[in-house]
Amino acid sequence: MAEKLSKDEIRKLPFMNADLDIEERVEDLLNRLTLEEKFRLCSGKRLSFFSTKKIKRLGIRQFIMTDGPNGVGALGTYFIKRTTYFPVAICRGATWNLDLSEKFGIAIAKEVRACKRSMLLAPGVNIQRTPLCGRNFEYQTEDPYLNKKTAVAVVKGVQSQRIAACVKHFVANNQDTRRFIVSSEVGERALQEIYLPAFEATVREADAWSFMACYNRVNGTYGCEHENLLIDRLRNEWGFRGFVVSDWFATRNTTSTENCMNAGLSLEMPWPIKYRKGRLRKAFESGKFTEETLDENVRRLLRVMFLTGHFDPKEKIPPCSRNTPEHHAIARKIAEEGIVLLKNEGDLLPINLDEINSIAVLGPNAKKKHAFGGGSSMIRAAHEITPYKGIKEKCKVKKVEVIKSAAEADVAIVVVGLNHKLGNDSEGKDRKKFELPDKQIALINEVAEQNPKTIVVLVSGSPVAMDGWINGVPAIIEAWYAGMEGGRALADIIFGEVSPSGKLPITFPKKLSDSPAHKSVRTFPGKDKVYYEEGIFVGYRHFDTNDIEPLFPFGHGLSYTTFKYDNLKLSSSSISSGDTLEISVEITNSGGMEGKEVVQLYVKDVESSVERPLKELKGFEKINLEPGEKSVVTFKLDKQDLSFYDEKEGCWKAEKGLFKILVGSSSRDIRVESEFEYLG
Ligand code: BGC
Repeated sequence: MAEKLSKDEIRKLPFMNADLDIEERVEDLLNRLTLEEKFRLCSGKRLSFFSTKKIKRLGIRQFIMTDGPNGVGALGTYFIKRTTYFPVAICRGATWNLDLSEKFGIAIAKEVRACKRSMLLAPGVNIQRTPLCGRNFEYQTEDPYLNKKTAVAVVKGVQSQRIAACVKHFVANNQDTRRFIVSSEVGERALQEIYLPAFEATVREADAWSFMACYNRVNGTYGCEHENLLIDRLRNEWGFRGFVVSDWFATRNTTSTENCMNAGLSLEMPWPIKYRKGRLRKAFESGKFTEETLDENVRRLLRVMFLTGHFDPKEKIPPCSRNTPEHHAIARKIAEEGIVLLKNEGDLLPINLDEINSIAVLGPNAKKKHAFGGGSSMIRAAHEITPYKGIKEKCKVKKVEVIKSAAEADVAIVVVGLNHKLGNDSEGKDRKKFELPDKQIALINEVAEQNPKTIVVLVSGSPVAMDGWINGVPAIIEAWYAGMEGGRALADIIFGEVSPSGKLPITFPKKLSDSPAHKSVRTFPGKDKVYYEEGIFVGYRHFDTNDIEPLFPFGHGLSYTTFKYDNLKLSSSSISSGDTLEISVEITNSGGMEGKEVVQLYVKDVESSVERPLKELKGFEKINLEPGEKSVVTFKLDKQDLSFYDEKEGCWKAEKGLFKILVGSSSRDIRVESEFEYLG
């Protein structure tokens, strides 16, 4: 029998001493746990959904977590509090502003703590492989470089507040169709170059404290029992010191208790299935896993408890806050910088409110609220400013009438798109079709016929087809699900208070069959297996290489001002393997309005022994310039930025020869270029 301790006795134990080294505290606590207590810590508390079990004897409280990618989730906190509804991850991805992602991380972590939780089940860093994935809105981008930079910023922000980030869903969970059973059949090169980089970077560069193992199988093995992923790569190669939690009920289909345990799954959520105590005891007693293995899994969970201050006195814990004006302002800023101006024929936008008398605001998404939907990421928002409300507020100040008739209005705004209903942008199911509903297409065409000054605002978390209506419409804005302040940010853009600066983090194809995952049912959605036959050619890598013109390319987004790119300079005309190449470019705001530009740097390997994409993003920076203002942006490249993953030799490789540097305003709007030689 384990010793019973009083509260006072517990307080005096070494693990309770916040001044001791964290590893000493972990070992002290681990050594005090009985086998049964360790078993208890391996799974969540039945019916609680988001917490571990407590161990009263040692004063171990429940460790509680919460969703999710765009605010403290409603699930599990519903009866507690309303929270800040931040723009969804794809909108944040579209800001290309790492500072904003870090600020988001800090703000959301403060809210997590204010809701008495210790871990945030985010960021979601799965690659947007197909426009139809129901959860694209929860993910950041199709590009591994933008993905990793953005993910690292979020994790750093979150964990600076001693709240654990949980990077999910590890890995190749790129669709929701049959997500509980499907096997993503994906080659090593695609894993290395496309699907793993963001996960890896959050460990190496941001010390992510937790990972969520995916529902699906990866090359035949379930994420929760994937020793190669969870131990060989995550722990041994990348140096992960945190713990792995299963996606909710993801262990249901795994083969056995010992396979999960031996693969390094620390915590089974939301409650015991494979880690039921009887099952654990039986597997343990028959030698299917060792106490050492169990200890290592538990140690990691305990470590994160200590990292998040679970046993520390209040004064050691960072302050928390929820729904503050600062957090709402961050939500608004992300929306403002994430909304993308796709098309603006004849400079219809911005609309000058002093020059018009009336405006028509129509369409199913004009007044629709989206916070409380989409699956596990749903938010119980403190408020949500819809496009209609945002526009109306501005019109009121300028005494511009908001009317219903497009024909009679000076300007017509049609707010269409998707929503979070199952089968749209929602967890649990992928979208059924790429087109907007027929009714919406008819509405757009009708309004455009009645009013030449028609602006289409898309509210969606993924690309939609536009061929049935795009030609008749002069201006299109992708507004995403832009959070609680989205309507205001949208109005600021429409009426020219801010110049739009969002850039697409995902390619918008003209038609679905242009998209790399849509070659056959094998490649999407598959049956028990889905074959990633496109390999590394995901997103713009596919469109570029196969010479398919997208509707709007990756990195695209218009501005109300213009930017000139000059004086591209390289620090050298050649580099060797240990060198860094410095690249600088001069950007001038050559237009008439203050604005932000995302300067994008792509690299092209001119000659290669393997097939490589025509270009790959390897640097970007967002800058703000007043009219006439100039700024020099610099980038650095090294060997890794030139490398591809060599499947034959099982390592990264940079080959000697010429490389091109392409710098521009989108992946298909390259303004200046140069080249250099890699000498090996
Ligand atoms: C989702 C996760 C989420 C979890 C907890 C699962 O269904 O896939 O992303 O964090 O539920 O709500």
